[in-house]
Amino acid sequence: MKFVASDKSCLTWSGDCLVVGLSEESLPLTGLLSELNERVSGLLQELIDETDFKAKAGSSAVIRVGNDVRKLAIVGLGASEDLKLESLRRAAAAAAKLAKREKCASLGISFPIWNNSPERTTQTIAEGVTLAMHEDKRFKSDTDAPKVVLSDISLLDLVGYEAALETAAHVCDGVILARELVAAPPNVVTPTSMAETAADIAKEHGLTLKVLEQAECEELGMGAYLGVAMASEMPPKFIHLTYTPEGTPKRKLALIGKGLTFDSGGLNIKAGAGSMIELMKMDMGGAAAVLGAAKAIAQIKPDVEVHFISAATENMISGHAMHPGDILTASNGKTIEVNNTDAEGRLTLADALVYADKLGVDAMVDLATLTGACIVALGNDLAGLFSPDDELAGALANASEEAGEKLWRMPMEEKYFDGLKSIVADMKNTGPRPGGSITAALFLKQFVKDTAWAHLDIAGPVWSEKDNAYNNPGATGYGVRTLVQWILESN
Ligand code: BES
Ligand code: MN
Ligand code: ZN
Repeated sequence: MKFVASDKSCLTWSGDCLVVGLSEESLPLTGLLSELNERVSGLLQELIDETDFKAKAGSSAVIRVGNDVRKLAIVGLGASEDLKLESLRRAAAAAAKLAKREKCASLGISFPIWNNSPERTTQTIAEGVTLAMHEDKRFKSDTDAPKVVLSDISLLDLVGYEAALETAAHVCDGVILARELVAAPPNVVTPTSMAETAADIAKEHGLTLKVLEQAECEELGMGAYLGVAMASEMPPKFIHLTYTPEGTPKRKLALIGKGLTFDSGGLNIKAGAGSMIELMKMDMGGAAAVLGAAKAIAQIKPDVEVHFISAATENMISGHAMHPGDILTASNGKTIEVNNTDAEGRLTLADALVYADKLGVDAMVDLATLTGACIVALGNDLAGLFSPDDELAGALANASEEAGEKLWRMPMEEKYFDGLKSIVADMKNTGPRPGGSITAALFLKQFVKDTAWAHLDIAGPVWSEKDNAYNNPGATGYGVRTLVQWILESN
């Protein structure tokens, strides 16, 4: 797929499918749009009338027009005062899907500019198209290519904003990597393959990579992480990728992702309907988002030093498995009574947070498919944001809004830490069911000493059964766009 920031307008572009984005205020047609209507001999107005088109967000219609423009489509953007970047991303996805359905190879997109920012408008339209067109057929045997493929996309009246197209391509590279890591089965994506993916990124884009093997993790005293890894036949891999900018970094940041390539639950095995054991390949969604962000950031090259970290392993059962009741000692010396082996993500994150905290970064963010309780609280579309730091929480909320990845700030109610009190150790790893995503966040907080920190529980949005604008059913790549946006804003 090739994108062009074009000097052509909806009056001069020719090709297979011209898609015009209409806000509610652009009806009835005036100015440029009535000129377009004349260009197509009144068919634009006919299309609006025949379909009773009101420009509601999510609506669209298409009509055959002529030869230099074969098909004309309109997509609704809603009220212009509500126009968000996300409205453009979704409308661009709708335009691309429509062009594909109509067997068009070339697509001209004529959308209004968001917030006087042609750069962000360009980037967002390209993201919507690229992500909507991404299909993952790696595990299908049918490799027949369709006869017509959407290959040329022109963003009309946006000449000069090629750099924004580049940014979009880098961001989408990252999102697609994250999707493919999450979608791949647990017999393909393993701790070792995750480390190999990190090595590929390092090699291709010039990052430095350190992979700590089990023995080095033992030396660092990572007893919580290694407790989880004990039952797996696959060696744990503690991944630490670093992007260092050429000049002096303006900020230093760390991203930490939960990297459970499969979560059986351990001896507290995930059993019965609703346990979702067959979906637990996605329990490395945090690590996938972190590696996806690494791939994007390495290409965008901001003046920010960024560390990408994941303590990758599986949570399995065997004679070597940690027992419910085991007491583990994390690398900061704190002891944990494992009252439930299925609360394993926080154990791996504990040692990863202690490690990241020592890097001397200005802020760190972890992403984790941490709790079913967060899905109960917020549903499948929103991640939970937990942070004791209002400024960091605000910056992440802002980035997520522009990225079109929804999140909601959750309270870190200290009183609930009482639920993690242990008779024999410093704490238990599991509290009572009510407020389960909050106690999980409070547990993580025990392993952060010096650094501004936020935790995103992405158990809900990492995977979607529904078709949703630019997310086809399956892995969403959630988190990559927010992370990249947050890093670029702190540039
Ligand atoms: N990986 C799961 C959380 C999860 C559940 C992610 C559903 C995505 C969909 C996590 O390791 C887990 O098992 N959490 C337990 C914690 C409980 C034992 C305190 C949970 O949420 O049930
Ligand atoms: Mn679990
Ligand atoms: Zn898990």
